[in-house]
Amino acid sequence: MEILKTKNLMQQWSKARKKKDKTICFVPTMGYLHQGHISLLEKGKPLCDELVLSIFINPTQFGPNEDLAAYPVDIEKDLFLAEAAGVTAVFLPQKEDIYPHNFQTKIFLDRLPSYLCGHSRPIHFGGVATVVTKLFHIVMPDVAIFGKKDYQQLQIIRQMVCDLDFDIKILGGEIVRESDGLAMSSRNAYLTADQRESALSLSRSIQMAAAAIANGEKKSGVIQNQMESFIKGYPHTRIDYISFCDPHTLESVDIIDRQILLALAVHVGKTRLIDNCLIAPSQ
Ligand code: PAJ
Repeated sequence: MEILKTKNLMQQWSKARKKKDKTICFVPTMGYLHQGHISLLEKGKPLCDELVLSIFINPTQFGPNEDLAAYPVDIEKDLFLAEAAGVTAVFLPQKEDIYPHNFQTKIFLDRLPSYLCGHSRPIHFGGVATVVTKLFHIVMPDVAIFGKKDYQQLQIIRQMVCDLDFDIKILGGEIVRESDGLAMSSRNAYLTADQRESALSLSRSIQMAAAAIANGEKKSGVIQNQMESFIKGYPHTRIDYISFCDPHTLESVDIIDRQILLALAVHVGKTRLIDNCLIAPSQ
């Protein structure tokens, strides 16, 4: 496994592989790897000749009051896990290399970033779209894999790749959960034991909603009220949003008469957690 610490070295590596007709699969991350990240690497491993992982805590996707400074880091463990997952190259750039002095270009999408997490994180998806564009140009993958845990991010990347004609196949990986249902996240490391229990309110409220829809409830407002009371019953929780929306446009849906995306964000203590599920009404 090669470790490439500058964008020039990474790009040279990719160009050399391409000259030999090797295909490249790419999984971008901010590190502190868990089984959710590993599942993306496992999905990508059989698809291409090379498997590239990037680890870069992208400052431009964090708002001024968010957890950039506190974001957890364990590079040694990440490299160990990456090697075990069959990664052939790790891109590990420095901030100054990705955002040199006088950097001034940004990628914006018109609509998708305005929904869901975009309300409370107005600069987030611009930062994501910009860094992913740069990473795509540096790594030059044939295939890139993103998790459905960040459903809105995945949709935004798909839209951007389509709009800007990137010749890259985008794949989504299923959400990996702890045995009790909590969606895995690097941010779960922030939770105290009490908060860890309250964090279960997200996945449990989704299950509750899925059961209500299976029982024939079609009004998203009714289910949303039930979810809100349920989540507020757990200590340390503060709901950011609960959205029943169209899985493609992310526009909200009042009557559930086709497949919808149920997505939510909840602050548990100081930690903001997200979860989602695609749910179809019973026939
Ligand atoms: P990060 O939060 O490290 O996540 C890296 C990838 O892992 C993302 O595609 C995310 O959706 C996926 N992932 C995280 N938890 C998951 C889980 N429980 N199950 C399945 N997949 C999961 O997302 C980012 O980094 C950044 O925004 C990035 C795309 C790297 C741009 O900076």
